Amino acid sequence: MNHALIPARPPPCTKKLADSGITRVVVGIKDPSLQVSGIDILKKKGIEVKSGLLKKECRKLVKDFLKYRSQKKPYVTVKTAMSLDGKIATRSNNSRWISSPASRDYTMRLRGESDAIMVGATTARIDNPLLTYRLEKPHARDPVRVILDGNLSVSTDLDIIKKGTLIIAARESGGEKEKILKDKGVKIIKLPSERGKVNPADILSALYRENIMSLLIEGGSSAIGTFLDGGETDSIVFIYAPILIGGNKAPGVYGRKGIKNLEDKINISNINIFKIGEDIVVEGDII
Ligand SMILES: NC(=O)c1ccc[n+]([C@@H]2O[C@H](COP(=O)([O-])OP(=O)(O)OC[C@H]3O[C@@H](n4cnc5c(N)ncnc54)[C@H](OP(=O)(O)O)[C@@H]3O)[C@@H](O)[C@H]2O)c1
Repeated sequence: MNHALIPARPPPCTKKLADSGITRVVVGIKDPSLQVSGIDILKKKGIEVKSGLLKKECRKLVKDFLKYRSQKKPYVTVKTAMSLDGKIATRSNNSRWISSPASRDYTMRLRGESDAIMVGATTARIDNPLLTYRLEKPHARDPVRVILDGNLSVSTDLDIIKKGTLIIAARESGGEKEKILKDKGVKIIKLPSERGKVNPADILSALYRENIMSLLIEGGSSAIGTFLDGGETDSIVFIYAPILIGGNKAPGVYGRKGIKNLEDKINISNINIFKIGEDIVVEGDII
């Protein structure tokens, strides 16, 4: 069940539990947005309820749900594959493939757990990605595809230009292309912008209204920079392949402005590091 879509009252499972004959219920964490606690209903039925067990672990498990309900925004993860020197493509925009097939399967799993995947317009144009979930197991549905495209610069013949794709564009964009995109089934959400650049908080509010609870941003560096600069990223998954790319013109992982002074650095906590084959995966939460 998608808990995000139920109103602020105890979900149907409370009634099911209350009527099931179960005598003891263990609750990890409470839904912060419920006005009436399901726990009270169960207790009134004479069911023994113990709450707050493995709270930290449970919080991690439903982090996207908690943010969605309390902040009315999707949980945002930036995921990207890069060389050891932090480049996500070569100077000629060649990025296929930086990481190993096993790491790409891991990416697929992340896609399977996400409601939506976002890429910037340049990545859509250069890589022409499918942005689908392609593992046989575990079963998962395709996420919503989102293109961040302030000026509607995306070409209309890409593979992802079809029903199920959302484009986030600046309010002042439009023209003939908008009609072609809409005729192909693409939904265009126009938002206020500053010289074509949309505020990431506005993007997340718009995606909340589309019932998107978790967003995976796969690149490129400008799309990632938009969310890191705006303080709108919750976690990172950086996959480092044991290669070097180099060069001033090759895009690094974090584009746009970045930070000016070290005291404004973005700190990452709860770091988890592991290997997939020869690739090194670094995951963490943004403080
Ligand atoms: N290694 C990996 O995992 C990986 C993953 C993805 C991409 N890549 C690589 O990354 C490179 C592309 O990166 P990039 O930084 O050049 O481009 P990008 O981030 O893919 O796209 C840039 C475009 O996104 C739009 N955009 C970004 N921020 C926006 C905002 N706040 N509001 C509105 N629109 C916004 C703009 O589109 P408009 O021009 O329409 O305004 C901008 O031109 C490619 O070489 C690609 O292969 C690598």
